[in-house]
This record gives sequence, C-alpha cells and structure tokens, in this order.
Amino acid sequence: MAAIPTEPKHVAIIMDGNGRWARSRGLPRTAGHQSGLDAAREIVRQAPAHGIRILSLFAFSSENWMRPKAEVHALIRLFGEALEQEIDRLVQNGIQIRFIGDRSGFPARLQDAMRRAEAVSRPGERLVLVIAVGYGGRWDLCQAARKLALRMREADLSEEQFDESAFEACLSTSGLPDPDLFIRTGGERRISNFLLWNLAYSELYFSDTLWPDFTVQQFEAALEDYRGRQRRFGRTPGQIRFSRHG
Ligand code: IPE
Ligand code: IPE
Ligand code: MG
Repeated sequence: MAAIPTEPKHVAIIMDGNGRWARSRGLPRTAGHQSGLDAAREIVRQAPAHGIRILSLFAFSSENWMRPKAEVHALIRLFGEALEQEIDRLVQNGIQIRFIGDRSGFPARLQDAMRRAEAVSRPGERLVLVIAVGYGGRWDLCQAARKLALRMREADLSEEQFDESAFEACLSTSGLPDPDLFIRTGGERRISNFLLWNLAYSELYFSDTLWPDFTVQQFEAALEDYRGRQRRFGRTPGQIRFSRHG
C-alpha cells in the first residue's frame, strides 16, 4: 500500500525544451519561448483546481545569462510583456506572485514592475506563484549565508545559533514549504541549479515532452504518478504504512 496519496501542495517545474520545440518547426528559438509562455499560463490556471497551493516555475536561470545576447534580450522583453499583460488577471484570480533570484541584472523598469506585481498581488490566497528569474540554487545558498552571517554579527550571536531554520529564513524561498513534486520537461534528467536546498526530499518526475507541448493532461499524469509514490523521509515502509502523517 502506498502511503499518503495526497495532492502535492508545492510543485516546482523546470520548463525546458522551448528552443528544441522551435527548431523542430523551423522557427526561431524566441517562438519557442512565446509558446512556452502559453503552456505556463495554462498550468497556472489549472493548478489551484488540483489542490496545489504553491507553484514554482523556473523561467530564467543565473546560467541563462550566458546565452547569446539576442536571446537574453528577447527573453527579458517577453518576460516584461507577459508580466504587464497577465498581472490584472492573476490578481483577479487570487494569485500571489513572488519572484526569486538575483534581480540586479534586469533593467530597472522591469525590477520596478516585479516589485509592483508582488505588492499588488500580495493579498492573493488561492495560489502562490513563485517565478524564478536570474535564479540559481548556488546564488541563493550564497546570499543566504551572507545574510545570516550579517544577522549573526549584528545580533552578536554565536555560531551554535546557526541552524537549519535560521538558514532557511535567509533563503529567497523563506517561509515556503519545500516542493513535494519536481517536474522537468524536455528530456534532460538534471536539476540545473534550481532549488538546491529545497529539493532535498522532493519527488522527481521527468517528462520527455518539450515544454510548449506539455498539456494539462500531461501535468495531471505527473500528479497521478506522484500519488503512487511512497514518501519515507528516511523512515521504514512499515512506519509509513501505519501513520498517515508519518
Ligand atoms: C527553457 O527552454 C527556457 C529557458 C531556459 C529560458 P530552452 O530555451 O532551454 O530550450 P532547449 O532546452 O534549448 O530546447
Ligand atoms: C534550465 O534549463 C533553466 C530554465 C528552464 C529556466 P536550461 O536549458 O538552461 O538547462 P541546461 O543548460 O540544459 O542544464
Ligand atoms: Mg534547455
């Protein structure tokens, strides 16, 4: 008997495969990113109905800055346009937006738009939409370590007070529960510097489908697969079977 067949509360997705999707159609990579945006919109729309409370989407990694300038510019432009177009609908639908990542490389106008989107959507209670832009797991660990060191120095704390919860509170994801389910589309079986701290015990699901082709049905298949997993967190199967809550 599989344990705790509940819906995942937090789903984190690496939306990969836009470029290959475009290339297979003889289109520029940017067209793949545009289509990828449509796929993301649909998953965001469907997520609350599946009991998901937090949806984290990897939109642009710290390593993606190394792509050709034209693609980086196109991605930034698309991101800005999408934010402007979607924000009202997201707010109306009770979606709270939270950006994680190093924003310093983005144009000031976009940074302002991100701050505004976070402020205006703060009351949203149906879904927390975490968008990782300029994000890298190692960046997050480093900035958290710096922040904690500073806090400890200012409060004159000793290193014994450096524990997991003090560290967690300094991460960009602070206050969010860890992802229950991690999905990566596009065929690669890797984490690519996504939520390194947070994915410690997430269930991993890989799909060969390229992100623009990832449908709600395929999303549901990932959720169904998750329901069949037994999450043990280090315990024995017997311990899990007799306690729904571990
Ligand atoms: C994911 O698709 C989107 C971003 C990284 C911004 P890719 O652009 O990585 O598409 P592939 O992997 O080259 O097909
Ligand atoms: C991961 O995809 C980042 C995003 C989807 C935003 P990449 O396409 O950049 O990952 P690698 O380079 O194949 O590992
Ligand atoms: Mg890729």
